[in-house]
Amino acid sequence: MTQAQIGVTGLAVMGANLARNLARHGHVVAVHNRSLSRTTKLVEEHGDEGTFLACETPEEFVAALERPRRVLIMVKAGAPTDAVIEEFAPLLEPGDMLVDGGNAHFLDTRRREAALRERGIHFVGTGVSGGEEGALLGPSIMPGGSKESYAALGPLLEDISAKVDGVPCCTHIGPDGAGHFVKMVHNGIEYADMQLIAEAYDLLRHGTGLDPARLADVFDEWNRGELSSYLIEITAEVLRQVDASTGRPLVDVIADRAEQKGTGRWTVQIALDLGVPVSGIAEAVFARSVSGHVELREAARGLPGPSGVTDKALGEEFVEDVRRALYASKIIAYAQGFDQIRAGSAEYGWDVDPGALATIWRGGCIIRAVFLDRIREAYEEETPPVTLLTAPLFVEALGLAQDSWRRVVAKAAELGIPVPGFSTALAYYDSLRAERLPAALIQGQRDFFGAHTYRRTDREGSFHTLWSGDRSEVGA
Ligand code: 6PG
Repeated sequence: MTQAQIGVTGLAVMGANLARNLARHGHVVAVHNRSLSRTTKLVEEHGDEGTFLACETPEEFVAALERPRRVLIMVKAGAPTDAVIEEFAPLLEPGDMLVDGGNAHFLDTRRREAALRERGIHFVGTGVSGGEEGALLGPSIMPGGSKESYAALGPLLEDISAKVDGVPCCTHIGPDGAGHFVKMVHNGIEYADMQLIAEAYDLLRHGTGLDPARLADVFDEWNRGELSSYLIEITAEVLRQVDASTGRPLVDVIADRAEQKGTGRWTVQIALDLGVPVSGIAEAVFARSVSGHVELREAARGLPGPSGVTDKALGEEFVEDVRRALYASKIIAYAQGFDQIRAGSAEYGWDVDPGALATIWRGGCIIRAVFLDRIREAYEEETPPVTLLTAPLFVEALGLAQDSWRRVVAKAAELGIPVPGFSTALAYYDSLRAERLPAALIQGQRDFFGAHTYRRTDREGSFHTLWSGDRSEVGA
């Protein structure tokens, strides 16, 4: 009897498309879904794309798999994942692999991995990026879990992943929750990148008065240079779309309230715990949140200030300024995201290779971009940079962009156009560059009201000033 190399349970679009991708690559795929109709539909509609073994029950599904078994779970993250694990784990044997391809929280993945390891089962939390189309045609895949499981699973995943210059967009990220952690940060960076693009659009739309169709051309042009990326490409597509029912640009009839499923928020929550300043991602999450607070926005709409003012003097030069400011801000957002990955890797002992990660993000995923190749190069230097900002390539880019960046942030403030992403990126840049930060004053204040002590620039140790006494200094 034919045995399947891998099985997919959970056949909503992502699961079905990954199963089809595997089958199209010549792998025999067992397929299972809680309700049989989805399984039947997949085989009826796409059975000719490869060999699918349609299974009605978990027992039948597990029996159809060659050993060690590879079971890919593609269900909604959270309780449904635990339910599926509980359903399948008792049917598996030591050495088998349960792979979770959903957007799980990495702490859940760590918990599940530890529990299943005790039962001898490899649990592989894997990030999968690229949306529905990526799942079918080649996603970027970020598997965590044991090295042993990657040896058995990696070749299949690499086979179905996107390829850039012949290199698969899939690599072993690190043990237990490493794969889901980097996928979480990927999504955080995705939020920041989208926010920055949205601000660039807003600046050009309301600053210069260019209409969406013309702006689509601008983004198309940007997509031919250093900003070339999937997100810029789809921005042009969205801006060019005309609403069939009203004849207006679609972007003007879409409600301006950005939603989120949670991975960006998790990125910021975890960054706070790790003490990593990911201000670009945080501003992106908050900007989505602000957009959704209709009651606040309605209450505040009449507040004084410029609104919707177009500066007729702004022309081609401003468009170029915005492009440069976008690139500089994007460098900051990615640098912060990679800092978080380094911090997470150190905290959990994962040994994540940032260069390898940049390599597998060059294709397949939502943040795929030419720019990722520059990040890969930066990490491949003999001495990798402490922050991406100091990699020679980016030093040059930031140097070229910074005058434009400052003009854009200043102009936005003048016109009343909110640019939280651009301005926080610039503030981060200037904070890192500053010889002295006003943190010294904050330390003084803390010592004043709470005797929290401070360090000095000229001597080792901790000190306290007797603020309510004679104001002399004592060692702490
Ligand atoms: C991907 C995407 C994918 C999904 C996001 C959207 O990498 O393929 O990131 O995971 O589209 O989760 O997230 P929000 O709904 O939170 O914007």
